[in-house]
Amino acid sequence: MKILFYDTKSYDRESFEAVVKNFPEISIEYTKSDLDPRTAALAEGFDAVCAFVSSDIGTRTMEILHARNVRLILMRCAGFNNVDLDTAEKYDIRVMRVPGYSPEAVAEHAMALALASNRRLYKAYNKVRENDFSLSGLMGFNFYQKTAGIIGTGKIGAAMCRICHGFGMKVMAYDVYQNDSLKDFVEYVSLERLLSDSDVISLHCPLMDSTYHLINIETIKKMKDGVILVNTSRGALVKTNDLIEGIRMHKFAGVGLDVYEEETNNVFEDRSDEILEHSTTARLLSFPNVMITSHQGFFTREALGAIASTTLQNASDFAAGKDSPNDVPFVHGGTA
Ligand code: NAI
Repeated sequence: MKILFYDTKSYDRESFEAVVKNFPEISIEYTKSDLDPRTAALAEGFDAVCAFVSSDIGTRTMEILHARNVRLILMRCAGFNNVDLDTAEKYDIRVMRVPGYSPEAVAEHAMALALASNRRLYKAYNKVRENDFSLSGLMGFNFYQKTAGIIGTGKIGAAMCRICHGFGMKVMAYDVYQNDSLKDFVEYVSLERLLSDSDVISLHCPLMDSTYHLINIETIKKMKDGVILVNTSRGALVKTNDLIEGIRMHKFAGVGLDVYEEETNNVFEDRSDEILEHSTTARLLSFPNVMITSHQGFFTREALGAIASTTLQNASDFAAGKDSPNDVPFVHGGTA
């Protein structure tokens, strides 16, 4: 079976080439173009396309893929909210995904952000490079014996609970379901109590109507002064303007964000002054206690390897006519 791999980065190619050897029935061609209505016709002669969160797989793209006899869309990510599932169903195009790949990758990055913002590592790094060895502005606090508040204890949140426990922290969690594997060292509490008692708060729930702007000025006011807030889940869990207000109120010792509301608008790719002036992300970056990374939580060798293995196993299951738990059901929705 022939797969056209869209939006190829060098690291994608390396991880897929390492795994495709184990699937002799599959061949992959790579293109740097992302999948959208202008590029969908490139899939002529391919059985499947491999796409990502950034791809535009709306109605028009789907129609073109159908006209080119593409039968399978392999999402190399968990999310599928950019896929027009109704049209996929209409044309009998199967959509498969990678529901989970390496929760530890994201949890470790969340802890890295918490530590880096607590000890101002970004500032320390720059100071020392400029030959300034003074410690002013670098004081943090011990995590040992402090309280971590984990919101959402699914795969990634549970990994974060284990890491915090390993640091000797008291771990509190809030979730709509309790994770039994954590019962020996995690205390489930109300959201109110988690907000008021935690020294480090880390968000690991999905973005849904019920979690949209979960962190807003009301919830921020309930937090301890000097708290560290980390978000590696989805930008819109946090109402950015309220976060800025909270930072101005000196609520936070540090804020570490791997995701932010403007992520999909390419604010920093289009660096026009006007866009940057109105960008809440640019405003966040002006604060010395905020550290932002560019949605890299998942980006480890292990996670990329797992994404490649699962995606190619999905392709192989399709070729063999097998059902798979990684099939995206033909109903509206989507999470990660
Ligand atoms: P998961 O589905 O295993 O866990 C999510 C947890 O959130 C579940 O336990 C669920 O019960 C809980 N939850 C749902 N509604 C809630 C609410 N209103 N309040 C509190 N908890 C609630 O998901 P997983 O794999 O742990 O991923 C979590 C999130 O991490 C994803 O939704 C995604 O947004 C983000 N993510 C970020 C990545 C990155 O590179 N930064 C990579 C992969 C995922």
